[in-house]
Amino acid sequence: MRLATLITVGSLAVILGACSGGKEPNVELIQDMMESPAVKSQEYDESSPASRGMRVPPPNTVPVGFKPYRFAMDYEGAMNNSNPLAGDFSSEVLITGQKYYDIHCAVCHGEKGDGKSLVGEKMALKPPSLFSDKVKNWKDGQIYHVIQVGQGIMGPYASHIPKEEWRWAVVQYIRHLQKGTH
Ligand code: HEC
Repeated sequence: MRLATLITVGSLAVILGACSGGKEPNVELIQDMMESPAVKSQEYDESSPASRGMRVPPPNTVPVGFKPYRFAMDYEGAMNNSNPLAGDFSSEVLITGQKYYDIHCAVCHGEKGDGKSLVGEKMALKPPSLFSDKVKNWKDGQIYHVIQVGQGIMGPYASHIPKEEWRWAVVQYIRHLQKGTH
């Protein structure tokens, strides 16, 4: 009886011991599946249609988290695109807005938004002031639209300010700057 117990306990210990997940790797039974070749993106790879390691994504796929802008070709829709941060002038929103405005917009439209900047002075077509009656009377969606798709010689800034909420924060910051010019 005692011997049977010992054998049972002993074999249990051996079986459980095998599952203990020590530092040593397990024995590889099917090695090809465990060690797949790591291909570098620019590497020549004859098995790929483009002969490169980097694959072209299948048509109509989008990156994780990507949100398409529905109004790129629809100005009417863009004008009425509602600002999720409307009326929110909390320091959190303004700090975010100022951060991206100062990095991407101030270089042309000026730190204060009045269109006075070193770069602007040298441009043939001067960046306009954001304090004009025109922009003051614009709907938030129109300012957002310019950030998103650009206007005339001004390029789009959506990829520079990748989050939708940050772009709206820039709109809020412009509205905040405009308040000081009444
Ligand atoms: C390289 C210089 C440059 C940068 C950087 C730039 N802009 Fe502009 N922006 C311009 C110019 C030039 C125009 C006028 C374009 C036109 O209508 O042909 C313009 C137009 C605008 C207008 C429309 C104003 C009007 O009266 O029609 C808005 C709004 C605007 N920009 C906002 C921004 C914001 C917000 C950013 C930052 C995300 C930004 N711009 C970055 C040069 C710039």
